[in-house]
Amino acid sequence: MSFGRDYQRAVRTTVKTDGQIFIPPGYEGEKSIIIPDEIVLFCVGKFGLDRPSIRVLDPMCGVGTIPRVLLAHGVDCVGVEIDDEKYIAASSVIDEAHLFHGDFRVVGLPTHSFDCIFTSLPFAWFRDKRAAAQVSPDYAQRFRDLLRPGGGFVLLDSLPRVDRDGGAWPVAELQAGYLINNGFAIGKVVAFSNASHVDADECSVIMKFNLK
Ligand SMILES: C[S@@+](CC[C@H](N)C(=O)[O-])C[C@H]1O[C@@H](n2cnc3c(N)ncnc32)[C@H](O)[C@@H]1O
Repeated sequence: MSFGRDYQRAVRTTVKTDGQIFIPPGYEGEKSIIIPDEIVLFCVGKFGLDRPSIRVLDPMCGVGTIPRVLLAHGVDCVGVEIDDEKYIAASSVIDEAHLFHGDFRVVGLPTHSFDCIFTSLPFAWFRDKRAAAQVSPDYAQRFRDLLRPGGGFVLLDSLPRVDRDGGAWPVAELQAGYLINNGFAIGKVVAFSNASHVDADECSVIMKFNLK
């Protein structure tokens, strides 16, 4: 399976950002997972997240960047995080009505009620084609169950290339393949050139996927 051409064709714009990340006070865990506030803010305007009554979900919210930034800008957003350390960091910046602790596949979220899932999938699951092929379809299935039918969409924060542990992986392409194989069609891809968010070619992407 190669989705390289679909993915490359979808890359439309490159936006310059400062790449600055916000680290919740006391958080000592992995920082390269954190999305810069400026990218989240850019997406509010670009993808119409500030339209009235839009509901956004970040089912894998890490230290809570996406819900924190969206809530501060008046966008209704809830986050879910499974990892204790990241959940504690997120709960220091997000009120408890907008944050859940646990596996988003089983946390009691209302189905077919979110307009947008704005998130990132762990890069380690997409180390290479073989690993990507083994990622459970449950995650994408749950995305579909949670999105509003008709117009629901996913915004996925990703990196075209990750250099870690002596290897380089085309993460965005492999993640796009995973969602395309599991009920989604790729829409726009916006690339961001920035300094501190990324560890490889100084470019990160937001990929939009629509329900098929
Ligand atoms: C790339 S990080 C997200 C980083 C986040 N955007 C931020 O700025 O902090 C992906 C997160 O997904 C979480 N995760 C993985 N599986 C999960 C699951 N089944 N339910 C909820 N969270 C999960 C991981 O613990 C990790 O924190």
